[in-house]
Amino acid sequence: MVTTEVTVSPEVLQASRVPERVPEPCAVVIFGASGDLTKRKLLPALYHLEQAGLLPAEFAVVGVARRPLQGEFVNDMRDGIIKGGGVEADDPNLRDFLQRVNYHAMNFDDPEGYVRLKALLETLDKNYGTNGNRLFYLATSPEYFSEIVHQLGAHRMAKPEKGAVRCIIEKPFGHDLSSARKLNDDINEVLSEDQIFRIDHYLGKETVQNILVFRFANGIFEPIWNRNYIDHVRITAAENIGIEGRGPFYEKAGALRDVIQNHVMQLLTFVAMEPPVSFFSGPIHVEKMKVWKAIQPIRMEDIVRGQYGPGTVDGKPAIGYRQEDRVDPVSNTETFAAMRFKIENWRWAGVPFYVRAGKRLAQRFTDITIQFKQPPTMLFKDNVGSSECGEIQPNIISMRIQPNEGISLRFAAKAPGPNMQSCPVMMDFDYAAAFGVSSANGYERLLLDAMLGDATLFAHRDGVETTWALMAPILEEWAAHPPKDFPNYAAGSWGPEAAIELLARDGRKWRHQ
Ligand SMILES: NC(=O)c1ccc[n+]([C@@H]2O[C@H](COP(=O)([O-])OP(=O)(O)OC[C@H]3O[C@@H](n4cnc5c(N)ncnc54)[C@H](OP(=O)(O)O)[C@@H]3O)[C@@H](O)[C@H]2O)c1
Repeated sequence: MVTTEVTVSPEVLQASRVPERVPEPCAVVIFGASGDLTKRKLLPALYHLEQAGLLPAEFAVVGVARRPLQGEFVNDMRDGIIKGGGVEADDPNLRDFLQRVNYHAMNFDDPEGYVRLKALLETLDKNYGTNGNRLFYLATSPEYFSEIVHQLGAHRMAKPEKGAVRCIIEKPFGHDLSSARKLNDDINEVLSEDQIFRIDHYLGKETVQNILVFRFANGIFEPIWNRNYIDHVRITAAENIGIEGRGPFYEKAGALRDVIQNHVMQLLTFVAMEPPVSFFSGPIHVEKMKVWKAIQPIRMEDIVRGQYGPGTVDGKPAIGYRQEDRVDPVSNTETFAAMRFKIENWRWAGVPFYVRAGKRLAQRFTDITIQFKQPPTMLFKDNVGSSECGEIQPNIISMRIQPNEGISLRFAAKAPGPNMQSCPVMMDFDYAAAFGVSSANGYERLLLDAMLGDATLFAHRDGVETTWALMAPILEEWAAHPPKDFPNYAAGSWGPEAAIELLARDGRKWRHQ
C-alpha cells in the first residue's frame, strides 16, 4: 500500500475551525429530549461546539419531554456527554455547561405546556441574554412533528416580535410521497421555508462535504468525472448491527425508507451534481435537484430487496429479523435494498449507479466507489496469467464516508523483478492521520449551521418530495407483491444473492460481496 503523507500545520487547522460567523445569542429547545438521540448525539455535539468557542456566550438549552425529570435529566445529559463526547467526568467546563441546561416536562399535545414553555423561554432571555432567538429541534417520533409546530404557531412562538426562530426536523420526513407532502404543508402553514431545517445527519459529515472539495477544489479529477472515463459508480451503506430494539420503528420503515430515500440519495447527488455557481444553499440545491430529476424510472428488475435470517456476525450467533423483539414473526419488511439507477444527462448517460443499504451485513462501512474504464489496449496483459497479482484491475477512487474516513486511489504499479509485471496498489488518504483529528460528528456542524441560518447542508421541500416520488413506484410494487423468499440472506453475509447478480449480469461486482 502506498500512503500519502499530508501535513497540515496546527495554525491552518485552527483557522479552519473558526467559523466565518458566530451565531447570535440563542436558546436551543429540544423536543423529545429524554430520548436516545439527545443524550448520545445532540448534547455531546452542543458541548463540543461550546468548548471550541463556536457558540455564543448567551446560550441556553431546554429539554422538553413527558416525564417529570428535572435534576435527573441534567445528570443523564452529563452521562451522555461523558460517554458520547469523550469528556472527562471531572471536567470543570462540563459543570459550567450543564448550568445552562434546563428541563421542561409537558405533553406535546397539551396547550398549557406551551404557555409554560413560552414563560420559561422569556425567563431564559432575561437570565442568559438569549434575546428571543430560538432553535427548536424536533427530536421526537414523526407523529408529533405537525402537532408541535402547530402548537408553537398557536402560542405565538413561531414568529415572535424579536429574534430569529428556526426549527430542525429529524428524519424520517414522511413515510411516502403523500405523507411527506402533508407534513410539508402542515409545517409551511406555520413556518416559512427559511425557518425549516430538515436534517440528514450524513450531510454534516466532513467526509460527505469533502466529496465536493475533492471534486471541485482539485483540477485533476473533474475533467475525468464523466461518462467518457467512468465505467460505473457504487454506493454502499452497510451496517453490521441489527435493529437494536427499535422493532416498532423499523417494521414501518425498512431499508428503502430508512436509508436509501434520504442518505443514499444525498450521497448520490454529491457524486453526480454539476459544479454549483457558489457554495451556498440555493445554487447547491439547484444542482442536486437536476440530478434527481434526471434519474430515470427504476425498472423492477433493477431492484433487490432482502431480509436477514439467523447467522453469525463478528463470530457471534445472531438472530434473524423475524425473531427480533416486537417484530412480526412473518414480517415482510426489507432490511436490505439494492438498485441500479440511470442518470440520463450529458455527464452520466450510460453510467450505472449501483446502490445498496442493509442491516446485519458482514461489516459496517459507508463507501462510494468510482470505477474507471480500462485503458483502450492492454500493453502488459501477457504477464497477467503468471501474475500473483491476478488480473489487471481498473482504477478506482474509493471514498470512505465511515469508518476509517478517507479516500483511496487504486492504480497499477510495476512489481519488482525482471518482468513487466503489473500489480494493483492503493494510494491512501486517511482523514484522522492527515489532520490529526477524527472528523466531527455530523450533528455539530448541522446544529451550528442551523443556528447561523445556513440551510446548505439540509434537505429542502422539493428535494424531499422528489426523492419520495422516485421511491413511490418501488414502494407500491413491493406492497402489492409481498416477497416469497424472506428471509433471503444470513446475518453476517453480504446480502441476498440477487444483489450480487444485479452487478454480475452487467459484468461488474461489489468490492465486498
Ligand atoms: N436515536 C438515534 O440515533 C436517531 C438517529 C437518527 C434519527 N433519529 C430520529 O430522532 C427522533 C428521536 O429519536 P430517539 O431515538 O431519541 O427517540 P426516543 O428515544 O423514542 O425518544 C422519544 C422522546 O419523545 C418523548 N415523547 C414521546 N411522546 C411524547 C409526548 N406525547 N409528549 C411529550 N414527550 C413525548 C419521550 O419522552 P418521555 O421519555 O418522557 O416519554 C422521549 O423524550 C426520531 O424521529 C428518530 O427517527 C434518531
